[in-house]
Amino acid sequence: MADNTVYRASTTAPVNIAVVKYWGKRDAKLNLPTNSSLSVTLAQSDLRTLTTASCSATYPEGDTLILNGEPSDVSGARTQACFRELRARRAALEAADPSLPKLSTMPLRIVSENNFPTAAGLASSAAGFAALVRAIANLYELPASPSELSLIARQGSGSACRSLFGGYVAWRMGEKADGSDSLAVQVAEASHWPEMRALILVVSAAKKGVSSTSGMQQTVATSGLFKERIATVVPKHMEAMEKAIKERDFATFAEITMRDSNSFHATCADTYPPIFYMNDVSRAAIRAVEQINDAAGRTVAAYTFDAGPNAVIYYLEQDTDIVVGTLYSVLGAGIDGWKQSIVESLKQPAVTLDEAVAGLL
Ligand code: ADP
Ligand code: DP6
Ligand code: CO
Repeated sequence: MADNTVYRASTTAPVNIAVVKYWGKRDAKLNLPTNSSLSVTLAQSDLRTLTTASCSATYPEGDTLILNGEPSDVSGARTQACFRELRARRAALEAADPSLPKLSTMPLRIVSENNFPTAAGLASSAAGFAALVRAIANLYELPASPSELSLIARQGSGSACRSLFGGYVAWRMGEKADGSDSLAVQVAEASHWPEMRALILVVSAAKKGVSSTSGMQQTVATSGLFKERIATVVPKHMEAMEKAIKERDFATFAEITMRDSNSFHATCADTYPPIFYMNDVSRAAIRAVEQINDAAGRTVAAYTFDAGPNAVIYYLEQDTDIVVGTLYSVLGAGIDGWKQSIVESLKQPAVTLDEAVAGLL
């Protein structure tokens, strides 16, 4: 009897913003990094991907992906690797239990929406591939742990492996040639440090000129500074960052976050020809954070920038007034390119910057 059923599963995944950045691949095919990295998952933020995966024997031949309403290419090696890995795991279940429907042989249809700018340096590839992998794993009813799924999501986009966990997440670079130890682990739950907040300053929602994949390849190939970064800077930052998180030491967390962002962007500037992800507004945000910390007489805010001009500012709930209030007055008034701001909370629902400031008045 023909099986005409459409099998379906949906999931959402949040973005994560690294405080020790991944930048560089030692194996482009398996997407293995040159260094470990560490991020905070912005689980309560407005920035997330919603993905539905379905499969049916009635679907026409070939897997498809609709991304933000437009057909998107799935023939790329990275997407193919995710499909292949997930299918192989489903096929193993079907082989062990012949009563299971043969989903692994059916075409896949993926429909995905990012509710924030795609490819603008706000980690769309992280939320996107985490959601894609988990949606298919749910569809296939795989008994896979988040770490195992992170191994698969890593092959879609490196940063995606970290979005399968909440809270503070390390991507251990691993040593093995097959990549089987290059996966994400949770360093601490979000509830370990419930006061942590992230403010996202959307300087530009435009697609970046140089994708992360291409940018890091150019950096690895041409930057001398990069060698120093992976040999000494990142190992030191990883160790200090994990300790700061365990001890809830915000001043150290903030200093390492800012230093690591600066170090990463310095390797971009040292790439030949140079890559510039930050712009004048980004640099104004850096100066504003410095002003806030100077005025407070202690470190209350930390900036970090991914491969794009948009700033993410980490701070603690009790310092909301000084951080958000000052940023709003310094930046909100006079800077062109100030498009939109979102206050993100690891604990509470997101509110816009305007709402947050209104709440303070
Ligand atoms: P970002 O800074 O947004 O992560 P990247 O250059 O790293 O930018 O990656 C952007 C690419 O990630 C997109 O061009 C697309 O191929 C992929 N991507 C983004 N969102 C999704 C999604 N929801 N599902 C599948 N792939 C996605
Ligand atoms: C600057 O994970 O987007 O955001 O693995 O090639 O898809 P690919 O790159 P991607 O790179 C992210 C770079 C970063 C830093 C980080 O998230 O750690
Ligand atoms: Co990305």
